[in-house]
Amino acid sequence: VAIGGFTDQLLNPQTDEQKRKRNLEIIRNEVRRLEEVLLKLPRYLKLEIKEPKPFLLPIIFRHLLASFETRVKVKNIRLQVDIPEGLPLVKCDAMYAEEAIRNLLDNALDATPPGGEITIRSFTENKEWLVVTIQDTGKGMSEDIKAKIFVPFFSTKDKGFGLGLFYVKRVMDACGGMIQVESEEGKGTFFKLYFRYQERGVGQ
Ligand SMILES: Nc1ncnc2c1ncn2[C@@H]1O[C@H](COP(=O)(O)OP(=O)(O)OP(=O)(O)O)[C@@H](O)[C@H]1O
Ligand SMILES: [Mg+2]
Repeated sequence: VAIGGFTDQLLNPQTDEQKRKRNLEIIRNEVRRLEEVLLKLPRYLKLEIKEPKPFLLPIIFRHLLASFETRVKVKNIRLQVDIPEGLPLVKCDAMYAEEAIRNLLDNALDATPPGGEITIRSFTENKEWLVVTIQDTGKGMSEDIKAKIFVPFFSTKDKGFGLGLFYVKRVMDACGGMIQVESEEGKGTFFKLYFRYQERGVGQ
């Protein structure tokens, strides 16, 4: 819609030079966004985990925390991470799980105002699940919004694709896991990922 509308204005001979330049910049930015989503989509849709390769959580959190360091600092967010070293192996795929948790952290950072808090924890539950929780003190969600968050292309953000949580849900399904969410408007949001796990072997 944006590209179409701004192109029409460009084709109108009455549009002045300054407006043309601004329209071209908007069109270029929108094309970049389209490129981004088109590159993401096949990766997000093709997702298939034939044989899960169990991995340890600290490995993916090392990458994740490093990549969010600057945003956390700039926004003055208190980030608490409690991932004990002795946890068992996650029965999923490290690359997919990392991208899923990246999407949850990305949303938590978007939603949380400066000075807020994001807490990440992991623990085993009922000897059945290895749980990862991501909690923020952000703006939270209404019941209406919460009902739609896993629907592809649902977004309340200006620049959101609405693909992040759709992807997280797909990863959890592909790993035989589950996802739960609790949220309260004005208070914050709590995501809980349930992974299957496997005890460590000798030396792991
Ligand atoms: N932690 C959160 N706090 C408040 N709202 C959230 C949170 N996480 C998700 N949401 C809501 O769910 C919607 C869908 O999230 P999702 O990650 O799927 O898409 P997005 O962040 O809008 O875009 P993107 O594809 O770039 O991730 C968001 O637009 C937002 O309204
Ligand atoms: Mg998102």
